[in-house]
Amino acid sequence: MQIPKDFLLGAATSAHQVEGENINNDWWYWEQKGKLPESGVACDHYHKYQEDFALAKSVGLNAQRIGIEWARVEPEPGIMDRGEINHYRNVLKELRKQGFAIMVTLHHFTLPRWASEEGGFLSNRVRIAFADFAGMMVAEFDDLVDWWITINEPEVYTAMGYGKGVWPPFKKGLWFMYRVQRALVKAHKLAFSKIKNQNPKAQVGIAKNNAAYYPARMGNPFDQLLVWCVKAIRNHTFLKAIVKYQDFIGLNFYFTHWLSFPFGGFDIKTTRKPHSDMGWFIYPQGLKDVLLELKQYNCPIYVTENGLADTADNYRGDYLRDHLGAVFAAKELGADVRGYFYWSLLDNYEWHEGFGPRFGLIAVDYPTQTRTLRESAKIFKELI
Ligand code: BGC
Repeated sequence: MQIPKDFLLGAATSAHQVEGENINNDWWYWEQKGKLPESGVACDHYHKYQEDFALAKSVGLNAQRIGIEWARVEPEPGIMDRGEINHYRNVLKELRKQGFAIMVTLHHFTLPRWASEEGGFLSNRVRIAFADFAGMMVAEFDDLVDWWITINEPEVYTAMGYGKGVWPPFKKGLWFMYRVQRALVKAHKLAFSKIKNQNPKAQVGIAKNNAAYYPARMGNPFDQLLVWCVKAIRNHTFLKAIVKYQDFIGLNFYFTHWLSFPFGGFDIKTTRKPHSDMGWFIYPQGLKDVLLELKQYNCPIYVTENGLADTADNYRGDYLRDHLGAVFAAKELGADVRGYFYWSLLDNYEWHEGFGPRFGLIAVDYPTQTRTLRESAKIFKELI
C-alpha cells in the first residue's frame, strides 16, 4: 500500500466528548437531571490540548479534526463569549504550530441550551442562529481552519434524539424524524451560504454516516431490492439534498449490514467475530464499497471518522491497517479520497454509553487524567 505524500492521516474528536464542563449545552442539562451519564471534566482536553496534540504528532499524524462547542461561544442568544473565542484561537494556533492540517466541526450532537429550548433545529430562528454562528466562526478562524464540517451525522442525530428518543430532546416518532432531517438540510444550506459569504473559497461539507449494505441471501431479488432502497434512503437522501452545497464529503464509517427481506438484518450488534467491545462487526471491505458508492458525487472525500471501542487493544492495529488498505483500494478504483481520520484521538465520553467504551489511540486514565499511547497507535505510526 502506497500512501501519497499529501494524504491526510489524522484523528478526530468532538468538543463535548473530550473537553469537559460544557455547562451551557443541552447534554449537560440532561446529565445533571440524571437522564444521561455525567460527562464532568471528560478528558479535560480543554486544558490538556497541547499535550494531546503533541501525542498525536508523536504518532506521525498530519491532521486533526476537532469540534467547536456552540454553547461555549454563544452561551446566551446573540451574546458571544470572547474568552471562549480566544480559547479556541489558542487551540487552533497550537494545532498549526505543531504542523497539523485542521478540520473543524460546528455541530456534533449538542446544542446550546437556549437553542434546544427554542425547539432545536426544528425552529427557524435556531437554524438562522446556527448559520450566524457558522459565519462568525469563519470570520474569526478562517486563517486557521482548512475544512469546515457544519453537521455531524444527521441521521444518527435524528434517530437517537427524535426516533429512539435516547438523546436530547428525547422525542420519538417518524414524523419528528422526517421533520428534523428536512430541518438539518435547511440548517446546513443556510450555514454553507453564510460561510461562503465570509469566504467563497472556504471548504465546507458535512460528516455523513454511511454504512455498507449487502443482501443477506446472494442473488435473492427481494433482498437486493431492500439493499437498494435502504442505501438510497440512509446513504444518499441527505447527500442528494445538499449536492450543490458541499465542497467535499466527510464519511463516517462504522457499520456493515446484511439485509434480508422484509425486515431482517438491521441489528448492528453482533456476536459474529471480529467485533468491537460494543458488538460492532469489523468489515474493512465495507469501507471500500461505501467509498466507491460516493464516486457518483464527483467531489473529494475525507474519511472523517472510522474506529472501534477496544479496551484491550486486541483489534485496533489490524483494524487500522485493513481499513487504510480499504481506503487505498477504493482510491485506486477512482474514489477521490484525500484523508483518513481515526475515531478517536483519545478515549472519551461515548454519549449515552458514558466512559465505558474506549475508542482512543491514546488511553485516558480518568481519575488521574494520565495519557498513554496504545500499542495500536505505535502500529499506526509504523504504517505512516
Ligand atoms: C460519532 C461519535 C461517536 C462515534 C462512536 C460517531 O457516530 O460521530 O461522536 O463517538 O460514532 O460511536
